[in-house]
Amino acid sequence: MARLNLLEETRFEKVPVKVYPNQNTASVDVAHRIASIIKNKQAKGETAVLGLATGATPVKVYQELVRLHKEEGLSFRDVVTFNLDEYYPMQPTDDQSYVSFMKKHLFDHIDIPAANINIPDGTLAPEEIQGYCEAYEQKISNLGGLDIQILGIGRTGHIGFNEPGSAPNSGTRLVTLDDLTRRDASRDFGGKENVPTKAITMGVGTIFKAKEIILMAWNEKKAEIIKKAVEGEISPEIPATYLQLSDHVEFILDQDAAGMLTRFDTPWLARDVVWDESLTKKAVVWLSLKLGKAILKLTDDDYNNNGMAELVTEQGPAYSINIKIFNDLQRTITGWPGGKPNVDDSNRPERAEPARKNVILFSPHPDDDVISMGGTFIRLADQGHNIHVAYQTSGNTAVWDDDVLRYLEFVQDFAIAIDDDKGLTSKIYAEAREFFKTKKPNQVDPEIIRIVKALIRKGEAIAGARFVGLPDENIHFQNLPFYDRSKFSKDVSFEDDIQQTMELLRQVKPHQVFAAGDFADPHGTHKVCFDIILKALLRLRETDEWTRDCWLWLYRGAWHEYPIHEIEMAVPLSPQEVKRKRLAIFKHQSQKDVPVFPGDDPREFWVRAEDRTSETAGLYHKLGLADYEAIEAFVRWKFD
Ligand code: F6R
Repeated sequence: MARLNLLEETRFEKVPVKVYPNQNTASVDVAHRIASIIKNKQAKGETAVLGLATGATPVKVYQELVRLHKEEGLSFRDVVTFNLDEYYPMQPTDDQSYVSFMKKHLFDHIDIPAANINIPDGTLAPEEIQGYCEAYEQKISNLGGLDIQILGIGRTGHIGFNEPGSAPNSGTRLVTLDDLTRRDASRDFGGKENVPTKAITMGVGTIFKAKEIILMAWNEKKAEIIKKAVEGEISPEIPATYLQLSDHVEFILDQDAAGMLTRFDTPWLARDVVWDESLTKKAVVWLSLKLGKAILKLTDDDYNNNGMAELVTEQGPAYSINIKIFNDLQRTITGWPGGKPNVDDSNRPERAEPARKNVILFSPHPDDDVISMGGTFIRLADQGHNIHVAYQTSGNTAVWDDDVLRYLEFVQDFAIAIDDDKGLTSKIYAEAREFFKTKKPNQVDPEIIRIVKALIRKGEAIAGARFVGLPDENIHFQNLPFYDRSKFSKDVSFEDDIQQTMELLRQVKPHQVFAAGDFADPHGTHKVCFDIILKALLRLRETDEWTRDCWLWLYRGAWHEYPIHEIEMAVPLSPQEVKRKRLAIFKHQSQKDVPVFPGDDPREFWVRAEDRTSETAGLYHKLGLADYEAIEAFVRWKFD
């Protein structure tokens, strides 16, 4: 059994868990643990045997190991490594192979001899696989077993590629990848259809034999599976739960990945808490939804029986707490996202003055504005605010190749129709056709094709913003340089993007800025786009007086919404407005039906948007507030 956690607050956790503020500090710690294993072995003249993983999770661990090698003389000369897995079939030279991954992130930068590196071979003939796998296991045990195995976790709960259904004593073998795993890998392969259906992986049993096992997970996307792996019952449906049976395992998490563990998500169930305003709100919303009872109907007993007795003692009776939280929620609701003129605004989310506000809505891709806050966008325009929209990136990556041909054909035919010279367009068209014939999945397009793709999205965005009611001069295409630059280089400076954003902000001097506050994917475009806006605003706050009057509102993307207790402005939409919003989303034709990057949600964007806003409205109603068709939600950024 795993070492038991005797602390009260971790009593729901069935494996030892260590939570770090962020993945950087956590990764550095893991790298140092690996380094000390290597050094201890070296001191005894022995070989350290490392079990390594690929994927996004261990990247920073490798970064630190490389640093330790380059700057602190850590040597890998007598280290032997075994990787968990490799896709099958897979050529080691392919970009997506785990061989390429390991070279890029670790092996090319350290002094490990090539002969000491072991990664399952994706080029074997089917009949060779079994013998190869047995030899892989044998080689590990001949070396005395793995001194440490590092793991990530897939959203299916896989470790290595041991998908749901794997046996606890499974050995290295050929496996079939789960659909969700293939969808998660689809970005690397330029579409799920290009992701291999199989892989060779070490088994759960192989992993188990390691002398130390560290499972790492970062970011909100992993929170749900981490909760199941740490607090759930052991089950083949979630292979990571088998780790609960090991007495030398540790889960290393960042705060976001740990966010759904009981001690963080519903801490009142795990220990005594300080009942501040935000925790009280979270707990009351939780209690009401858990019991299926409107907030105003919750009783002292309901509180007492659900870990909230102390709250009632401190702030009760239930009625007083109920009414306070009910009012708080009620006050988030407003049909006036730009503020309601000529009324007392002390309990409203936005200021009444100035009645006509300057507003900038920043949209990371050309359709986030209407997908994520189309109803509010329409309201702001209808209510006469001076609203600008700024499309931060061109979004060219998400346009299908055949749309490029279709638009170029249009340009050529139009030239013929008006008797104009179509020479250059024909040449570009012919080159594009040739390029697409041999284009590899995920290959970056030549500049001219990227321009066509960007223009396709530009036209759609203009159509959407005009439909909302914006004058053309209020529609801005920033084409921030980081977006294309990141396709070619590792240059991570955003100075020109920040400068450009500062200029636009200075021009509009907004009272309200709306920005996508989607942080689940830390390297994703939305997060980068947000950081650029924030940096621009912070710099302007040092010099420009108008910024003191500028409020920053965050909206979330197509995938998930803010939890109810965090929402600070809830804008209800009527059925008519939901329909208008849908039509605005429809203007983005290149993203309709089957987008290039659908993510792991089979629904079209407009359906996701409508489901999300009606779910929020449904939750408000369940809590005992009015029954709206849909609600768009916002959170205000606190600068100080
Ligand atoms: C990688 C591996 C997988 C990943 C898991 C998480 O060698 O075996 O189990 O660890 O899929 O992937 P990331 O880290 O990309 O989220």
